[in-house]
Formats: sequence, structure tokens, C-alpha cells
Amino acid sequence: MSSTPSVLVTGANGCIGSWVLKLAVESGWRVVAMDLADTPTRPKLLLDEEQLANVAWLSADIGDTEAVKGAIRDTGVEAIVHLGALQVPFCKADPVAGARVNVVGTANIMEAVREAGIKRFSFASSVAAHGGADETNPYLGTLYGAYKAATEEMARVYWQDWQVPSVVLRPGVVYGVGRDQGMTSAPTKAMLAAVVGRSYTIPFGGNAAFLYTSDIAGAFLKSVESDIAGCHVFDLNGECRAVAEVVGLIRAEVPAADVKIDGDELPFPPDISDKPVRDFLGGYDKTSLEDGVRQTIAGFKRLAGTGSLDLSQLDR
Ligand SMILES: NC(=O)c1ccc[n+]([C@@H]2O[C@H](COP(=O)([O-])OP(=O)(O)OC[C@H]3O[C@@H](n4cnc5c(N)ncnc54)[C@H](O)[C@@H]3O)[C@@H](O)[C@H]2O)c1
Repeated sequence: MSSTPSVLVTGANGCIGSWVLKLAVESGWRVVAMDLADTPTRPKLLLDEEQLANVAWLSADIGDTEAVKGAIRDTGVEAIVHLGALQVPFCKADPVAGARVNVVGTANIMEAVREAGIKRFSFASSVAAHGGADETNPYLGTLYGAYKAATEEMARVYWQDWQVPSVVLRPGVVYGVGRDQGMTSAPTKAMLAAVVGRSYTIPFGGNAAFLYTSDIAGAFLKSVESDIAGCHVFDLNGECRAVAEVVGLIRAEVPAADVKIDGDELPFPPDISDKPVRDFLGGYDKTSLEDGVRQTIAGFKRLAGTGSLDLSQLDR
């Protein structure tokens, strides 16, 4: 690797992308951000102006083959972290758009990686690629999960046929500042609601694998720190805890919080070992749920009143 490593992050205006930008800038990487969005709204929640000035922002559609190939060729990056995607509700609302972004968009990135001979390529699949927690039911249950499963198989074939290497990470329920959309964003929204004095109902209960944003961003960045050989698909876990415990932790920080739970357990396995990925990457941070909730609420308290928090997310 050259003295200043370089990374292109797709979906850079998303929650996880914003945290990857933050860690990459703090670690001295040259950072290129790609997203449909024109401006870095979520990264602004985490990075100051000086840090953002170190991010080259490209507004591009990952569904556009030539735009993706051109960007990767022109920026000359040595690593790619691909996070651009439509989440579960958006895929359900518009299946063709979901397939275009999540499957064709990923094919475009893989082709660009192949063409540029990039050896450090990591992208997000999901726990949804596993299907339900019920082992007797073989179906994935969501189109989003089906698209993610397809990209995992594509990555395996890209290695088999063209030796395009990849690390594919399957997160569970990611929480932290910036997590404002998608099926599993409700625990973070509940933290925001508590800070701004609004009521909130989390529409699922039972247990889930809670993964702090900073930890997952660290795992993605670590996965492209050195050249990869092979296609490696890993589960990420976080902490398997009851949604009710999260509510208790929110109340510990904001005693007046009005947060309820109304729903069944999520249709994903709530506790999968992350030992293989930790062994492969040589470890990455593991923030306890207690610390993660505390840091998230502290982050929202810091941002409340700055006008940068989009409270309309609490109504979606
Ligand atoms: N957040 C989670 O709990 C979770 C869990 C499992 C997997 N994942 C996966 O991790 C990745 C990042 O998730 P996130 O929570 O940051 O998502 P997010 O919804 O916050 O961000 C996704 C980003 O992708 C961008 N995007 C959408 N369509 C695009 C297009 N055509 N071209 C370019 N950019 C486009 C959006 O503008 C957005 O900034 C996704 O692949 C997601 O499926 C997330």
C-alpha cells in the first residue's frame, strides 16, 4: 500500500457510509465518497468541516455502469467499500428499483473492480441473506434478502472466474447516530425521540443482534487494509439482547423517555457467531450495548438544537 491509502466508499451519505468516512479520515486515508445524494447530509452529523474538506464527494448513481467504471478508474483508489443500497422497505415498495440498485449496482461495482484490478474490495450483504430464525423455513422472506443473497453468489463467481477478491459482511441491527431509515432503524429512532421529547413505538420485540455503527465501520475499513485473496462471506453480530433491554438503557439516560414496543421478533437470526470474521480481520472494536446507547444519546443531545437532525424520520 502507498503511504497514503485510498478508499472509495459507495452509499457514503448513508449511516454506515458516514461512519466509514469518519474513521477513514481520522485514520489518514485519502477518501472518495460516492452517493446519489449531492451533499453529505449524514456525514455532517459526524465529521467537522475540516474533516469533510478531506473527502472528495462524487454524486453518482451506482446503477449507471459507465459512471461507476469512470469514477473508479479516474480516482485511482486502491480500495472500495461498497455500501450503496436500498433497504428492506424501499425494495418492497419498488422491487425493480431494489434490483437495479442492490443487484445491478453491485454488478457495476464488481465489473469496475475487475477492470481496475482492485485487490481490496468489501461490500455489505445482510443478516437478511440468511432468511428467518426458523430453520424449518428455507425462504428468505424479503426481496432485500434475496437481492443480498444474489450479490453474495455473484462475489463467489467473480473470484472463481476472474479472481476478483472480496470480503462480504452481513450486519444485523445497526444502531447509532445517522441510522434514520430502514426496517431496523427503530431502536435508534427511539433514542432520538427520547432526546427530543417525543413518544415512539418500536415495531418489533424479542431479541436482536445490536451492532454499533462505529464498530461496523471499523470492520469494513479493516477488511480493505490489505490485499485480499478469495471471496469471504462473514456474519457480523454485535450483542444479542432483548429490544426491551434497549428501552431500559434509553430510560437510564433519559428518565422521561416514552418508548414502547409493539411487535414480534424480527424475521432474522438474532445471534450468530462473529468469531470467524474477528479471526479473519484480527479483531475490531466491540462496543457494549450500554456504551453504544450512551454514546448515541450523547450524540443526539449534542446535535439537538443545531438544526441538523431531520425529525421527520420519527414519522416514517
Ligand atoms: N443499517 C443496517 O442495520 C444494515 C443491516 C444489514 C445490512 N446493511 C447494508 O449496509 C449498507 C449500508 O447501510 P446503511 O444503513 O448505511 O444504509 P442507508 O440507507 O443509510 O444508506 C444507503 C445509501 O445508499 C445510497 N444510494 C441508494 N441508491 C443509490 C444509488 N443508485 N447510487 C448511489 N447511492 C445510492 C443512499 O443515498 C444512501 O446514502 C447497505 O448495503 C445495507 O443494505 C445495513
